[in-house]
Amino acid sequence: MLYRYKKSLEKIAMGLMSFMPKERDLKKLQQTMHKYEENPDWQLFLWKEDDDYVGLVGVELEERGFVIHHVSVNPSHRGEGIGHEMIAKLQEIMRDKEMHATEETEAFIRKCPIKKGGL
Ligand SMILES: CC(C)(COP(=O)(O)OP(=O)(O)OC[C@H]1O[C@@H](n2cnc3c(N)ncnc32)[C@H](O)[C@@H]1OP(=O)(O)O)[C@@H](O)C(=O)NCCC(=O)NCCS
Repeated sequence: MLYRYKKSLEKIAMGLMSFMPKERDLKKLQQTMHKYEENPDWQLFLWKEDDDYVGLVGVELEERGFVIHHVSVNPSHRGEGIGHEMIAKLQEIMRDKEMHATEETEAFIRKCPIKKGGL
């Protein structure tokens, strides 16, 4: 199930975020987290499987759609379909607004069913 990020989940979220290749540098990672905490157009979600948060997806809201900037799954849970499930659930939450990817996320998003939007 997909949950909205809250400050109490900061450490878990930072751990998951750090799997993104461009977020390995701690300073960059902190700046990214700050953006999700301060800017209402930047929204972060965590995926809970049983009792653990094992996935993360972060989006920027735009006028007609949203852009997926971050998507990551804990390495010990990869290949179980969680990435696909997160993207499907996110499209539901976004009420079928147009979904877009960045250069960094498009390789995976291309593999997911897209209800509305393009890459
Ligand atoms: C990308 C990621 C979120 C996928 O999560 P996941 O839960 O393992 O994905 P699923 O189980 O739903 O789907 C697995 C499929 O995605 C593919 N995939 C995994 N990583 C991918 C990547 N970086 N680019 C393209 N496809 C990728 C797998 O090869 C597999 O394909 P197949 O079904 O044809 O065999 C995960 O690998 C991850 O956290 N990667 C590190 C962070 C990252 O680089 N994110 C940006 C990716 S573009």
